[in-house]
Amino acid sequence: MATAALQAIRDSAPAVLPSLLLCDFGDLKGEVAELTAAGARVLHLDVMDGHFVPNLTYGMPIVEGLRRHTDLPLDVHLMISDPLAYAKPMADAGADMLTFHVEAVHDPVETAGKLKELGVGVGIALNPETPLASLGEAISMVDMALVMSVEAGFGGQEFNPIALEKLRSLRQDHPDLLLEIDGGIDTDTISLARAAGGDLFVVGSAIFRHDSYPKAIADLNAGIQSATGDDFALERKQEDHA
Ligand code: DX5
Ligand code: ZN
Repeated sequence: MATAALQAIRDSAPAVLPSLLLCDFGDLKGEVAELTAAGARVLHLDVMDGHFVPNLTYGMPIVEGLRRHTDLPLDVHLMISDPLAYAKPMADAGADMLTFHVEAVHDPVETAGKLKELGVGVGIALNPETPLASLGEAISMVDMALVMSVEAGFGGQEFNPIALEKLRSLRQDHPDLLLEIDGGIDTDTISLARAAGGDLFVVGSAIFRHDSYPKAIADLNAGIQSATGDDFALERKQEDHA
């Protein structure tokens, strides 16, 4: 199943992934329905432990609850100090992609290998100040690299263009690797990130602080298109939303 979900994530690209961080947690079922109707094809879940980052969000019960309300792939961003301690429960709860932070672990190769054994897609994330070199050999083992364009921990921060350099470099060295960017993505920065080689664009504020999810996602898709001229992909998305 995870393999099919990983393929669905690949097939969705280039895509806007709503981040379930600034949403209405009192109405998750309604939020998922609205986001799906607005054209979301993958959901990004921000798991924070109050230790790796100074913010606390949610764990397996929310992932499991979301899983019951949607067939969309669940892309789980683990901003936690001990990703392996929660990896299996997260996979059992319904996570399709598990992304760990390279800063959180001693041995990224070992972490990536153990996550792979769970049968989920595996992502490796790095904060703006963390050099690409810190990814080491693990980069060749993962399904996705998540380039943070803000320091992990909070929504609503300002986009850091250092992420664009990292995307360009990763795209050049790993042409087939799925590249995700997260933090400060709006209708302007999404074009820059697409032009730099991004595939998946995680968006919090620019969707959840907008009064219309369909309009927000359509505007972001237009931003992707303006960077690539990828008319076919956008048309396909618009047909899907019709
Ligand atoms: C931040 C999270 C992001 C966050 C993005 O640590 O990983 O997914 O929700 O929010 P915006 O789009 O507001 O920067
Ligand atoms: Zn995130």
